Amino acid sequence: MLSDEDLIALPKADLHVHLVGSAAPHTVVGLAARHPGAGVPTDLRQLADFYAFRDFAHFLRVYTAVSALVRTPQDIEALVLGLGADLSEQGVVYAEVTVTPVTHTVAGIHPAELAEALGAGARAVRAGTGVELAWVYDISSSDGPAGAQSTLDAALRHPPPGLVGFGLGGPEQGVRRSDYRDVFAAARAAGLHSVPHAGETTGPGEVWAAVRDLGAERIGHGIAAAHDPLLLEHLIEHNIALEICPSSNVATGAVPSLAEHPLPGLLSSGVPVVLASDDPPMFGTSLLQEYQRARDTLHLSSRDLIDLAAAGIRSGFSTGNLPAVGK
Ligand code: ADE
Ligand code: ZN
Repeated sequence: MLSDEDLIALPKADLHVHLVGSAAPHTVVGLAARHPGAGVPTDLRQLADFYAFRDFAHFLRVYTAVSALVRTPQDIEALVLGLGADLSEQGVVYAEVTVTPVTHTVAGIHPAELAEALGAGARAVRAGTGVELAWVYDISSSDGPAGAQSTLDAALRHPPPGLVGFGLGGPEQGVRRSDYRDVFAAARAAGLHSVPHAGETTGPGEVWAAVRDLGAERIGHGIAAAHDPLLLEHLIEHNIALEICPSSNVATGAVPSLAEHPLPGLLSSGVPVVLASDDPPMFGTSLLQEYQRARDTLHLSSRDLIDLAAAGIRSGFSTGNLPAVGK
């Protein structure tokens, strides 16, 4: 069985981690203290309670409150540096980090400043730790097609170095993925990879829509695919990986318990899967802990864990220097 040390030593990639959702608790309480009245606790114990989510909608409200604390390019750069240090400690060599430009524009950070702060942060992380960071610009569906258009404008006019993907997050219920078809087509035409969330809290129909309407090349979560053999076949045939974040799914109530998570079944179906962390401190996890929980609670074999790590490295979109693991 792989020890914790073995899991740390395994070169890993996190292909689904949100920048704001990666903020360490001490960073969040520090930001909250600078912005009293924003509704986010300034004390670590209260923050832990604040992160006890009743359901997915409650999680999104909390996420929005924390996002609103990020007000300056310096805040962005601090988040990147914190994430880089956390990843490095866990043996994560590469991450594709989701950033939601509309959230930061509304808070007063211009897209050009955002891109500069991300670039400066990534350079410092690379120099200090060797961890390589790339970016996914995503739309929250709560910002609608107008938000999608301004996200595309930010991506095209002010791309940070290492921008590789275009995503769609936020609420899923009642959101027609086809409303975002044109903006995803334009993003793909500009060379960005399509990586929408889908099938996290809804059914396989949304995953089909992500594939057909948005040209998805990887799917954020996509756990609903477990119920649709034809969809699994399609994902296998087109090599579309699911970014599986088990602790996230339990914390938001998408899955009743870790022991009931569909990851083992998805692996045996042969569908491409990568293991990811989503919003790790908010969900009381880290990428390393996802590997540990997959080993201890889901009883994945050493072979499965090694294959998952290799799939993570292989499924990234960066053209930069990555270790040859699993290539
Ligand atoms: N934004 C941050 N985390 C998210 C998640 N798990 N699903 C949808 N949108 C998100
Ligand atoms: Zn996510």
